[in-house]
Amino acid sequence: MLNKNAPIGVIDSGVGGLTVLKRLKELLPREHFIYLGDTARTPYGSRDESTVRSFVQQMLDYLEKQQVKLVVVACNTLSVLGIDTLQKGRLFPIVGMSKGAKLVLAASHNKNIGIFATEFTIKSHAHANAILTLNPEVNLVPQACPKIVPLIEGEAFGSAELTKVITDYAACMQDAGVDTIILACTHYPFIKKEIEQAVGPEVAVIDPAEQTALDTKTILMENNLLHDGVGRSKIVFTKDLERGKRLAARMFTVTDCEFKEVVL
Ligand code: DGL
Repeated sequence: MLNKNAPIGVIDSGVGGLTVLKRLKELLPREHFIYLGDTARTPYGSRDESTVRSFVQQMLDYLEKQQVKLVVVACNTLSVLGIDTLQKGRLFPIVGMSKGAKLVLAASHNKNIGIFATEFTIKSHAHANAILTLNPEVNLVPQACPKIVPLIEGEAFGSAELTKVITDYAACMQDAGVDTIILACTHYPFIKKEIEQAVGPEVAVIDPAEQTALDTKTILMENNLLHDGVGRSKIVFTKDLERGKRLAARMFTVTDCEFKEVVL
């Protein structure tokens, strides 16, 4: 029996899912959260499927022991494994990242849409398939951005290296004439403003985290699992707790959060 007073688990390969936790905390301030970021083994996006599958099972095992009532997979690389496959054998509902198909189709006028994601997510074609299912006429420009996640994990904000990486990836999108880009990796909203600057004001940059938070609320309501008290957050990393704290502080107020390092 799931307990509505239990926490919601949130997972990512590292700090990226904090951009989703921000939206979850905003929409569901009464909920308790346990965020688990596998900072010891990030990035996942350039790894093979069996490795990523074994890592996600370890994270779900950890959260199962914490008796969570629901898990949000705040990572596109893990979500594209298929939430139905992750759900097998787990009693709590699992919510994946929104693929944002409706959002990008609503935002795009020229139906020329870019996808920024990890190599793993791009190879899965999950976002492309979701968008093409709703509108087979659109032109898609998928772009794997393997250089971004290590720079965000390494707090390289404002560095010449990160600026160059963003400029290079943005140039591919500008050359292709896209008017909308979906950020299909949860690390990228850390640099959403910089991406927006690089692609210019004509291009809409879409972060599907808010939609993911809305999806989470719907599942909680459907299962009668909404909590009605004061929400608390516990943030757990597998390495570099102090770095994790600084990155979390870029997303939300951390004074009321408990931080801890764990071994999976
Ligand atoms: N934040 C992750 C995502 O949304 C993965 C980054 C990585 O580990 O490569 O895909």
